[in-house]
Amino acid sequence: MNKIVITGGAGFIGSHIVEHFVNAYPNAEIIVLDKMTYAADVRNLMHLISVNKIRLVVGDICHLDTCLSAVKGADLVIHAAAESHVDNSFGNSLEFTRTNVTGTHCLMEACRSENVAKIIHVSTDEVYGEVLEGSATEDTTLKPTNPYSASKAAAEMIISGYLQSYKMPIVMVRANNIFGKRQFPEKIIPKFALNLILGKPLTIHGNGKNCRHYLSADDFAVALELLAKKGVIGECYNIGTTEEYTNMQMAYMLCDIFDVDPDKTITFIKDRPFNDQRYAVDWSKITALGWTSQHSLINEISDVAQWYYDNADRYVPSADLKTLNAPTKLGKPSLELSLAKVA
Ligand SMILES: NC(=O)c1ccc[n+]([C@@H]2O[C@H](COP(=O)([O-])OP(=O)(O)OC[C@H]3O[C@@H](n4cnc5c(N)ncnc54)[C@H](O)[C@@H]3O)[C@@H](O)[C@H]2O)c1
Repeated sequence: MNKIVITGGAGFIGSHIVEHFVNAYPNAEIIVLDKMTYAADVRNLMHLISVNKIRLVVGDICHLDTCLSAVKGADLVIHAAAESHVDNSFGNSLEFTRTNVTGTHCLMEACRSENVAKIIHVSTDEVYGEVLEGSATEDTTLKPTNPYSASKAAAEMIISGYLQSYKMPIVMVRANNIFGKRQFPEKIIPKFALNLILGKPLTIHGNGKNCRHYLSADDFAVALELLAKKGVIGECYNIGTTEEYTNMQMAYMLCDIFDVDPDKTITFIKDRPFNDQRYAVDWSKITALGWTSQHSLINEISDVAQWYYDNADRYVPSADLKTLNAPTKLGKPSLELSLAKVA
């Protein structure tokens, strides 16, 4: 592998993918193409940029020329750039279509033109819509229910056209919710952790019973490396875990870590216009290739919370930091116990 391009590499998941591929392919040239939106942070990559392990190209995937020059000569392109926050998509859905659909189209066109040897497109389990019971296989019909998931499903349709028409070497992945450090605090885990650090209430959409499966960003990056080697061209792979929690359980777990009384801090707000009750995928197809998750949220959520404590200055104005509410070293209380309280 001589050259690897990772779009969205300065964001949450992208930065974990970049770290993993730098270690897996130490001699490859690694380029990150990222527009540096509000969700990106150069500090996610500084440890790699400063030692010349990667090169950050600030650019928009919606510009064909930018994509063409980034992917020229690439052996592998991993496409993780996206507008990713469902709540934002209700208010600004055109930006989601622009980035997630037009941007994916531009990138695929550039990859076609430059004959890129392999492309991994990062999609999401949300394209299946809600799965109330059982789990979606890769053949389940896509039924997205919000502008974000609709734009991700539309991007898959663009790719499907490129696969059929041009026989391009593309593999797609649809993963569960992903957890880890460096996630922008608009998503549930970092948002709740920072609120607890600042002594602010935890607001829960609706009744808090919506559940999500949680996959570690590190396990996800390992899966992508496996698919770069063994993923069958034209195929789609679900990537999932057994760890499933309701939003209320997540709030209780984090209250437990910060030693805060959940009854005094959890408040309920109006639900999203549409809020899928549950997502679930069957990931036996990637298991057959040899992948299995090695990490678990229950074991690692304290470390993630600790990272937000240690790096709160990234996200919080310095005046607010003076009112930090949590101990400098967070405990690892009985998370099973806190889950049992809301079971
Ligand atoms: N977060 C999850 O739980 C999850 C789960 C499954 C799949 N995904 C998918 O994984 C990918 C990464 O998600 P994330 O949570 O890391 O998102 P993120 O919002 O943290 O990062 C997205 C990155 O894309 C970049 N970007 C946005 N628009 C761009 C553009 N026009 N050109 C170039 N770069 C642009 C941003 O600057 C940012 O660095 C997305 O495709 C998302 O749909 C996320």
